[in-house]
Amino acid sequence: MIKNNKYSEIKKILSNRPKLHELKNELQDWGISEELAMYIVKESEGKKTLEVGSGLSTIVFLLASDFHTCINPNKSDKERLLIELNKQKIDSNRLNFVNSKSEFFCPKLEDFYDVILIDGSHTFPWPIIDWYYSGMHLKKNGIMILDDVDWWPVGIVDSYMKNSSLWKFKFGNERFSCFEALEQGEKLISHRWEQQPNILGALCEKFK
Ligand SMILES: C[S@@+](CC[C@H](N)C(=O)[O-])C[C@H]1O[C@@H](n2cnc3c(N)ncnc32)[C@H](O)[C@@H]1O
Repeated sequence: MIKNNKYSEIKKILSNRPKLHELKNELQDWGISEELAMYIVKESEGKKTLEVGSGLSTIVFLLASDFHTCINPNKSDKERLLIELNKQKIDSNRLNFVNSKSEFFCPKLEDFYDVILIDGSHTFPWPIIDWYYSGMHLKKNGIMILDDVDWWPVGIVDSYMKNSSLWKFKFGNERFSCFEALEQGEKLISHRWEQQPNILGALCEKFK
């Protein structure tokens, strides 16, 4: 059971959303929605969590999880985040900030995680690479979250997961989706073509 003060802490942070990203020399707020923030806190209490990308979501994970790893190659994003954590008096000792590109770091992951958020590069093929290599390290019954499913490279992954018997859709809206893993490791990630409804449906249409 999450203590109410975690929710009020998030509400306070979201009432004055920090700008933790930058585009063309202007600070940006690319942070997750309040609805997703509340869900992350509920699912991450006392857990080991991982995220591709960093920002407001990292602060939210740190309010709940036991130990959090985030992956982001951008050094300025890291500096802004650490300043914000200090300002909000949130302990950064439980944070492992990996200053690396996810496509290089995720294939080297060793641990298993309870909750994973994919919110790094939304450009093709990154969401697929991030999903594949981090998904290999999600515990059975763990939660995989995709943010910005309205970006088509993220949408491909979202569509696959919504049609797969290996994943159970738990919560979401037009912007994000949260799924429970019904298997673990290779079994979760490597479904054969005849077990993938998206592929089978298209083939049946083609040959009917
Ligand atoms: C949409 S923002 C993340 C927003 C964050 N979840 C939040 O709530 O504030 C995307 C982030 O992914 C990072 N990113 C871009 N390419 C990446 C890569 N190859 N690997 C990991 N992170 C990457 C960007 O630097 C940026 O911080």
